[in-house]
Amino acid sequence: MPKKMEEKIRLKINEEWHEFSLERDLTPSMTLAYLLREKMGLTGLKVSCDEGACGACTILMNGKAVLSCMTLAVQANGHEIITIEGLSSDDPVVQAFAQQCAPGYGTALQCGFCTPGFVMSTKALFKEIPKPNLLQVKEALSGHICRCGCYAGIAQAVLRAGEKNE
Ligand code: FES
Ligand code: FES
Repeated sequence: MPKKMEEKIRLKINEEWHEFSLERDLTPSMTLAYLLREKMGLTGLKVSCDEGACGACTILMNGKAVLSCMTLAVQANGHEIITIEGLSSDDPVVQAFAQQCAPGYGTALQCGFCTPGFVMSTKALFKEIPKPNLLQVKEALSGHICRCGCYAGIAQAVLRAGEKNE
């Protein structure tokens, strides 16, 4: 009897292709968030609500912001994933969040738990709208919760990063 071929999926994660066996590495119900955090050690994305309500687990899939807690690992087969670890430390959005500190607006981060999610959604926003206005920023980031309440600082950081876009 011919040996059954091992079924695999392939994901391009932060510029490198990785293969996962459906028998050894994954279960059918495993989320992309679990795969990235627990199997790949990419712990920048956070799993907070685990039900699509907070945005902390946001990553880019083919350039679009995606909630990795609401995406099955198998659904990402063949797709390109970027996590916060895939951005360089001098990435303009990362820099804008880190440097934000304006009177009246405050900082863009306190504990930083929500920050990777906000940054990844901002990257996706800039692909669509390089210089968004405040309303567009609020709309694009409306799915994110910051428990420290840094919303004004976050919006300022995104607007400033956008001003530098071509
Ligand atoms: S952990 Fe995914 S949306 Fe909250
Ligand atoms: S900075 Fe603490 S949750 Fe946003």
